[in-house]
Amino acid sequence: MQTVQNITESIHYVGCNDRRLEKFENIFPLPNGISYNSFLINDEKTAILDTVDSSVTEQFLENVQGALAGRDLDYIVVNHMEPDHCGNIVELSRLYPNGKIVANKKALNFLDQFYPQVDLKENYHQVKEGDTLSLGKHELTFIFAPMVHWPEVMFTYEKTEKILFSADAFGTFGALHGNLFADELDYDLLYGEECRRYYTNIVGKYGKQVTKAMGKVSEFDVQMIAPLHGPIWRKDTSYLWDRYTKWSAYEPEKKGVVLVYASIYGNTASAIDYLATRLSNLGVTDLRIYDVSKTHPSYIIADIFKFTHVIISSSTYNLNIFPPMKAFLDEMAQLDIQNKKYALIGNGSWSPTATKQLTQFFAEFKNWENIAEPITLSTTLSETQKNEFDQLAAGIAASVSA
Ligand code: FEO
Repeated sequence: MQTVQNITESIHYVGCNDRRLEKFENIFPLPNGISYNSFLINDEKTAILDTVDSSVTEQFLENVQGALAGRDLDYIVVNHMEPDHCGNIVELSRLYPNGKIVANKKALNFLDQFYPQVDLKENYHQVKEGDTLSLGKHELTFIFAPMVHWPEVMFTYEKTEKILFSADAFGTFGALHGNLFADELDYDLLYGEECRRYYTNIVGKYGKQVTKAMGKVSEFDVQMIAPLHGPIWRKDTSYLWDRYTKWSAYEPEKKGVVLVYASIYGNTASAIDYLATRLSNLGVTDLRIYDVSKTHPSYIIADIFKFTHVIISSSTYNLNIFPPMKAFLDEMAQLDIQNKKYALIGNGSWSPTATKQLTQFFAEFKNWENIAEPITLSTTLSETQKNEFDQLAAGIAASVSA
């Protein structure tokens, strides 16, 4: 059954939802599914802006055929060549052999790499930064946004209806619920956290490039933002813009402390619970405790972006950092998160080397300020060491309130 929705009179949503996929990119959990957005402009010429993942091909093609209502497809615009969006270019080209594939040089190279079994070169329509394409009443302008997620990414601005087709930018995890527009639902409740988890884990590493792309976009009059995942924005776009401004500058949104621990038999966990209780008693709000063996790193990373302070605590295992913590730290390090204040706690029943290894690891982080001497526990938080923890709590509380 067709699920086409109108964005405007002549621009149609032909995207699809996947609520069964367990992990996006085979790494990020999707408890609420995901939408793959695709848009069709019906003018003197017809154009599809991006396709969808191959898992939802059947629904997508039904939507496209329904929205075209017997017309031919003139253009397939490729803003992003990642398979969750390019997964139906070949299929569309088979159905609509006259459709020109509008993309930049990098995207066309990727198209050749991803689909070596087909040769679509005859249909390539290569564009450069700032090029325009008239469809009749609608005119598309191509704005390059490299590394807002991949190097070939571009945004497309439609001049008549003032819509920014923003590729992955401003998107979110979470399937659509029938309401296409962010102002038709409680965005904060349904997508607020997932939008942050999506940005921080997918694009978080490329803050500089996001800032640059936003600078280019600010020269256009944007009345609507249509990302490739999640709801479309036609009101209050400053909400999104403000979030992206902070995230891309690695500016914390809120004072608060994320306490991340790796604990084999619960003793490190217990010490962190004690520390958090002390912090709460000292008036520190917005505490978040995570067990890295339990919570997927993407959720912890999203909160680390959000808050000002991070406490890392790990047991020693085979003379190293406990593997789930090591894996978490490696994943976080890849994202180049900046502007955090942190403290470290190691634990071990013999040769508690985790403290030293954590210290070495964090010394490499850019713009991370160490606010306390690391503490080493010998198995449990003993009565004699409580004083050290109390001092640590006082130091963190003072730093949070500064
Ligand atoms: Fe939604 Fe970078 O793909």
